[in-house]
Amino acid sequence: MPREQAGVCAEGNLHGLYLLFNAEEQAEPALRGVLAEIAAWLQASVDQNADSAFNGFVAVGANYWDTLYPEARPANLRPFPSFEQEDRKAPVQPVDLFIHIRSDRVDINHVAAMEVCHRLTGLVQLVEEVRSFRYLDNRDLTGFVDGTENPQGVHRREVALVGGEDEAFRGGSYIHVQRYQHNMDRWNGISLKQQEDTIGRTKVENIEYVGQDKPLTCHIKRTNLKDEQGNSMEILRQSMPYGTMKEQGLFFISCCRTPVHFEAQLKSMIHGDGQGHYDHLLNFTQAVTGAAFFAPSLDFMECAAE
Ligand code: HEM
Repeated sequence: MPREQAGVCAEGNLHGLYLLFNAEEQAEPALRGVLAEIAAWLQASVDQNADSAFNGFVAVGANYWDTLYPEARPANLRPFPSFEQEDRKAPVQPVDLFIHIRSDRVDINHVAAMEVCHRLTGLVQLVEEVRSFRYLDNRDLTGFVDGTENPQGVHRREVALVGGEDEAFRGGSYIHVQRYQHNMDRWNGISLKQQEDTIGRTKVENIEYVGQDKPLTCHIKRTNLKDEQGNSMEILRQSMPYGTMKEQGLFFISCCRTPVHFEAQLKSMIHGDGQGHYDHLLNFTQAVTGAAFFAPSLDFMECAAE
């Protein structure tokens, strides 16, 4: 069984640091080696920094994959989907590389990011750096607990990691990233009941609304989807709050064995159910970036670097 990168299925942390890079022209031969080394270094750092629950992963952009690894492509790797209806948009900003670093210490994340940037010197341009943090008891900045219905225990791996359906990419994961910017004034301007109706759960106690009370426009109604066989279309969310007083929100991250689930959920949020019931959470937050990646197994990266 190929070894997956530890950060894909990791349990939550107190702090995150995300680095998004575009590659320089002709950097591929060197990058293949350096990325494999970075992924191995992040993996080794998991044990060295066990006290701070360090973890991380390296993911390669859907639009850059063939340039970096021309010999094989994950079966379902495709660009970030483009959805738009009325003022609801999911902007697409393809990026070549995404390095995900997390631990319970800001200083350890910072040192890891310095090491990553040092190893990538001359091969990439930094497009975006975002630092995230745990807010209260795993809440989003809206004040609602985020991640409650995430898969738990061994089920995280079943949801997030490619299996025998694509043998060459077993242990890898389809990653979707969106940086959401919240309109906190607008959100804080509605009542507690209106906020709870927007999510479909109570705020303080985090209790799910019972079926008939769930508005068709609430976030969990729009994202809790089933496929044609009636199976839950699950994703593993690794999102965390980020921000400053100028700009703040959720750095949304989905890890899954298929891109289909995230795409269906995002479509359902923006386009709704065909009867005008779109996700009313989008009245209070707006995605400002969106990119699709694949986080290959450590073994794939090692072999491809040879
Ligand atoms: C559930 C917040 C974006 C997929 C939730 C919950 C909250 C939340 C508070 C309920 C608790 C939980 O189960 O985690 C947010 C915020 C977002 C955002 C603040 C953006 C600003 C998204 C996006 C997707 C998504 C873009 C996928 C395209 C889900 C799913 C659930 C969920 C699958 C679980 C639904 C269930 O089974 O009950 N989200 N979310 N979320 N969200 Fe989001």
